[in-house]
Amino acid sequence: MLCIGLEGTAHTLGIGIIDSDGKTYANVRSEYVPKSGGIHPREAAQHHVDVLAAKLLETLEKSDLTLKDIELIAFSRGPGLGPCLRITATAARTLALLLDIPLVGVNHCVAHIELGRLITGFKDPLVVYVSGGNTIVSAYEAGRYRVFGETLDIALGNMLDTFARAAGLTHPGGPKIEKLAKNSARNFISLPYSVKGMDLTFSGLLTAAVNILKEGVQLEDLCFSLQEVSFAMLTEVTERALAHTEKSEVLLTGGVAANKRLQEMLHIISEEEHDAKFLAISPDLAGDNGVMIAWTGLIQFMQGDILDVKNSQILPKWGLSAFEFTRT
Ligand code: ATP
Ligand code: FE2
Repeated sequence: MLCIGLEGTAHTLGIGIIDSDGKTYANVRSEYVPKSGGIHPREAAQHHVDVLAAKLLETLEKSDLTLKDIELIAFSRGPGLGPCLRITATAARTLALLLDIPLVGVNHCVAHIELGRLITGFKDPLVVYVSGGNTIVSAYEAGRYRVFGETLDIALGNMLDTFARAAGLTHPGGPKIEKLAKNSARNFISLPYSVKGMDLTFSGLLTAAVNILKEGVQLEDLCFSLQEVSFAMLTEVTERALAHTEKSEVLLTGGVAANKRLQEMLHIISEEEHDAKFLAISPDLAGDNGVMIAWTGLIQFMQGDILDVKNSQILPKWGLSAFEFTRT
């Protein structure tokens, strides 16, 4: 069965086609990059409007398919920015009605995890999902992805991007901070370490780092220290979740998964200290994309989770653990 997936929760408009054997036919993306500052929801939505038709045609061309070949439509129903979600949801509904094929509404966070499972072959991992909008340590238990630990304020990627902006670096800041940290003399600058039970907070760390930046320290050292502290916080929570759940696999996904230092820390606690396999999703599939929506849509379809167009409203605040999801 062939499924087309439309992703549009935030900055990325993604369209992908995959079949029920997990073969990808196309994975086309276009990213809205703000001229300055963070994402403006209406501008991001306008970007999706501007590129959607061309990207749909490009997806079909790349996959050597026509719309008539598509048997299922999946779209990112939430969580995300309302104006952006509405664009892809409207396109998905239109296609479903036009082609007279079923429509499936996918949870964006579950989609990141499910594509990760497909790529790695992991059966039942502890998942560390870190991006610009999310910081979640989760595992599947009794019909849903349960959240073991998460940020209580801003996401790790958002913290890195906001600090980078204050330091005059362009968006996205994460990769630039990683590069500067790598070239640093590794002079550690003390910063607040804030783990509360199984949860994390990053805003105090961000404020402290921005204040220290104004004192004129070496930016490389500050980037190094910011990574060490924030990644150690996440690693501590992950390790505790691993000890508690006794999972034998650890999966790192989301945009921040590209970071080599974070990978190294999680690799050490997984493989060396808990005898669990560790894998990070490759950057091209760790970020938002349409294939992850298409793949998760297929899984949901197989379970009979189909949406009536009339009841297919978007769910901007759709939490990971609020979604009952039967895995295959
Ligand atoms: P979501 O909607 O799932 O929250 P997102 O909209 O933030 O995702 P992603 O592409 O998953 O989009 O993640 C982007 C984030 O990843 C940005 O904050 C970016 O700085 C961060 N990032 C990318 N590469 C690196 C890296 N090498 N080191 C640290 N952070 C990185
Ligand atoms: Fe995402």
